[in-house]
Amino acid sequence: MKKLLLLTSGGDCPGLNGVIRAVVKAAEHDGNWQVYGSRRAYCGVLETPNDIVHLTNELTAGIHVRGGTILETVNKGNPIAFPVNVDGKHLLVDRSKELIEKLAELGFDAVINIGGDGSHKVSQHLFEHGLNIVGVPKTIDNDLYGTDYTIGFQTAVDTATEAIDRLIPTAQSHNRVIITEVMGRDAGWICLHSAIAAGAEVALIPEIPYDIESIKAKLTSRFNKGHGFANIVISEGAKSLAGNVVCKQSNEFGYENPVLGGIAEQLASQIRDGLDLDVRVTVLGHIQRGGTPNAFDRVLAAEFGVQAFELVKQGRFGFIPVSKEGEIKPISLKQATSEYRVIPSGHSLITSARAMGICLGD
Ligand code: F6P
Repeated sequence: MKKLLLLTSGGDCPGLNGVIRAVVKAAEHDGNWQVYGSRRAYCGVLETPNDIVHLTNELTAGIHVRGGTILETVNKGNPIAFPVNVDGKHLLVDRSKELIEKLAELGFDAVINIGGDGSHKVSQHLFEHGLNIVGVPKTIDNDLYGTDYTIGFQTAVDTATEAIDRLIPTAQSHNRVIITEVMGRDAGWICLHSAIAAGAEVALIPEIPYDIESIKAKLTSRFNKGHGFANIVISEGAKSLAGNVVCKQSNEFGYENPVLGGIAEQLASQIRDGLDLDVRVTVLGHIQRGGTPNAFDRVLAAEFGVQAFELVKQGRFGFIPVSKEGEIKPISLKQATSEYRVIPSGHSLITSARAMGICLGD
């Protein structure tokens, strides 16, 4: 029997367990592979003793409806820049050679990493250094290049939309402006989808820096017409024309990305400055990462899991299955990590939003 190692890395999202179950099912059906899982991404391999679990049909039965990941995950476990504490000093150490050697010692023939753009850059590095690795696209942000959808995105959009749906009646009842801050890092996919789905008046995405005067003009015209309330959806990575992205805290050691958050409060102050409106802020935060995956993400997880296992069986390492125009097909990890996927300026989401009178802040 050949040995396959599975891991989830980076931020969690709904649908990860569905991929794990699909890979285990496909491998048991094939009959030539045993599947194992490394807990907390590569930490399960790098730790002594190893924290690796044998994944069977019994262990993974029914997990596809559960959020999170049964394997757990970390976003500070990059083996190329692994955070360690030596004599009270924080250092980043390249443990990739050690990782590849340990995997060989443990008898693994292949690895499947379920991750986002940061994780797949690491996978590409490991592949170039001799590891037999295949990727699976996941992240609520939908910002991985080369795929139309990543696992977790559609469920996060559902969650954000439901939250905004709940905020609209309270905005209406109190004649308020309610600003909802959604996740998505430097891409506005969650924001624009949920704003259109819920029917918000303003959607502010990182791709279009906003002009506060344009938002004030939109609110003034709306309140003058007597509607008496407004809903604004803003991406955590949005910024004003003159400003910068807002971070909750400075970079955590070993964590590649800034911890975004706080732009909605900044926007609320900018609106209050000059307009006599009652403004409230709701930050959805990690709620968007939780919950049971919707049917779309369950199907995508199943297809990605099966196709990733197929790539392993065929020895097509350095590849990742993606969803393109309704089909699942493989592309190279190199291609998938060659760019960061934002909403292109001429995208139909942007033109549709504008055509419906949604203010995009420009
Ligand atoms: O990448 C997914 C994501 O949820 C982003 O939308 C967000 O900026 C980030 O992760 C939050 O990460 P953490 O789990 O470290 O708070």
